[in-house]
Amino acid sequence: MTTVVMLSPGYPAEMAYFTRALAETGARVIGVGDQPPHELPTVARDALAHYEHVSLADEGAVLGALHGLAHHARFEQVECLWEPYMILAARIRETFGLPGMTVEQTVPFRDKERMKQVLDAAGVRTPRHASTATVAGVWEAAERIGYPIIVKPIAGAGSADTYRVDSGPELSDVLPLLRHVPEVSVEEFVDGEEFTFDTICADGKILFENVMWYRPRPLQMRLHEWVSPVSIALRDLSVPDLRGGRAMGRQVLDALGFRTGFTHMEWYRTAAGEAVFGEIAARPPGTRVVDLINYCTEGDTYRGWAEAVLHGGLQRPLEQRFNAGSIFKRAQGSGRISGVDGLDPLRAAYGDDIVLVDILPLGTPRRDWRTTVVGDGWVVVRHHDLQRVIEMTERFATDLHIHANA
Ligand SMILES: Nc1ncnc2c1ncn2[C@@H]1O[C@H](COP(=O)(O)OP(=O)(O)O)[C@@H](O)[C@H]1O
Ligand SMILES: [Mg+2]
Repeated sequence: MTTVVMLSPGYPAEMAYFTRALAETGARVIGVGDQPPHELPTVARDALAHYEHVSLADEGAVLGALHGLAHHARFEQVECLWEPYMILAARIRETFGLPGMTVEQTVPFRDKERMKQVLDAAGVRTPRHASTATVAGVWEAAERIGYPIIVKPIAGAGSADTYRVDSGPELSDVLPLLRHVPEVSVEEFVDGEEFTFDTICADGKILFENVMWYRPRPLQMRLHEWVSPVSIALRDLSVPDLRGGRAMGRQVLDALGFRTGFTHMEWYRTAAGEAVFGEIAARPPGTRVVDLINYCTEGDTYRGWAEAVLHGGLQRPLEQRFNAGSIFKRAQGSGRISGVDGLDPLRAAYGDDIVLVDILPLGTPRRDWRTTVVGDGWVVVRHHDLQRVIEMTERFATDLHIHANA
């Protein structure tokens, strides 16, 4: 039986399902995380043979705890699916001589400049780019790259502190807002549609791939409260529009030497049809996308990942059966959830094609739309036909309303 150390086994919420999948697939799972044991979700707690409660931000403390543990238990593998601790996981592997990604192999998945340098060398089409830690450096990069540009943190997430800048005067306005960001990436602004290319791999072989279409682009979702973010996990990946992005995805994984686990890449498709690289992470997509993939495939992607990392293959193939679309709704108004309207006609129109409606209960405080992508309500619809899914997601975006008031 393989003993696996799982970092942060219960947070964010999806981690509990990955932890359970490891246990169900036959691993003995040791959790290491900062959640106090009583705050671990039951799903995670029930799957753990042991839990070390230690601050993940304190590398010395984590290594100390694992050295202590190593006196009574052997562990053979370290898994981490949460972005902030990917490097920590690699450090643990190096310290204990375990297989898997090293620090050097992990850095290009975390540092957006390093990432693009490696990919440029491999001939991948990245946006023109520069990184800098100074105001003068941003001006110089803007000059060289040409407007419009994107300025964003070198190790950002969730479109935080990310700005499109169209001119010098705009850049003057944006720079003070970036004062707290130690290093930024400046990029050519790439106009187009935005997609993911997500995989589960074992030994450098792609066992499963997913392409998801963001509507609108994530930066727009982050900028405008009235937007209802839509993501569609696509059924037919063989269409010509996706060919360039999928080929790029393979090239990127090769260039970065990725072997085993989940990956999540974002790419842009311009109006002219060119695929341009966005970013990549060595972890699953967040914000419920793994669940969306489960609706798309009618499979268990959590289990698929566990089988890949433990046994190097999928027991049952994961295959797309539906276009599955999710709509996140943001409440209108502030305070507590006070009502929902528009749901009945949508149910009447789409019936069983609506597979999930999960709205915060009346009386619950509404969430902060800027910091939680999932918003105050989540709906999933699916159908064989993409046009129908586009129509349904658009109708839910415009016709379903969640109200809040103080
Ligand atoms: N070069 C670019 N051209 C156009 N849009 C961009 C560019 N870089 C980032 N964006 C927008 O900002 C969003 C967030 O940037 P991204 O690099 O994905 O960082 P993260 O998701 O880690 O915050 C993207 O999804 C995209 O909408
Ligand atoms: Mg992104």
